[in-house]
Amino acid sequence: MLFDNKGKKYLEAMSGLWCTSLGYNNQELIDAASQQLSKLSYSHMFGGKTHQVGIDLAEKISDMVPTKDAKVFFGNSGSDANDTNIKLLRYYFNAIGKPQKYKIIVRERSYHGVTVASASLTGLPVNHTNFDLPFSALGILRTDATQYYHCSHVGELEVERLLFMRIYSASPCAQSIFSRLILISLLHFIGS
Ligand SMILES: Cc1ncc(COP(=O)(O)O)c(C=O)c1O
Repeated sequence: MLFDNKGKKYLEAMSGLWCTSLGYNNQELIDAASQQLSKLSYSHMFGGKTHQVGIDLAEKISDMVPTKDAKVFFGNSGSDANDTNIKLLRYYFNAIGKPQKYKIIVRERSYHGVTVASASLTGLPVNHTNFDLPFSALGILRTDATQYYHCSHVGELEVERLLFMRIYSASPCAQSIFSRLILISLLHFIGS
């Protein structure tokens, strides 16, 4: 529960921006942060440097993800992480001699952050208007949002979008024809 400056109560069901799921004033977190601050309050990881807490956390995360020997690259925010993702992709494909592989397909109405690169990935006009974002330099292509309520095409059934949105990305027309064909086959299959 949170209170605003007029004492109005809010049920904070979003957990901040999805990052306070352990709650506010969590004593365990306060103790851990305060112990760490008294031990080593700051140290960077720039230019190949590191520190024990960073190593321990990276190893823990690496063990948790379903990739063998995963490497961990820390960022300061979600936006920063998405910028880094773009840089890593560019770097990788340049390194293996495929610089032409740089396009990124993003969804309309998606949210990926607010820095220059991550706002370019984001599919919301409010994050684009008047910012002169470098969409084409970043190789950004857009496809439909998954939502049916806001983004369905005329005549599209909700089940069509639910079933097929994740399977393919194509023009609205191709989507509609393709999904109808699959739906018809599915209905035949269920009916037979
Ligand atoms: C899916 C997603 N990507 C990126 C971000 C951006 O993260 P940040 O606000 O830490 O820059 C958010 C933030 O809410 C997000 O929900």
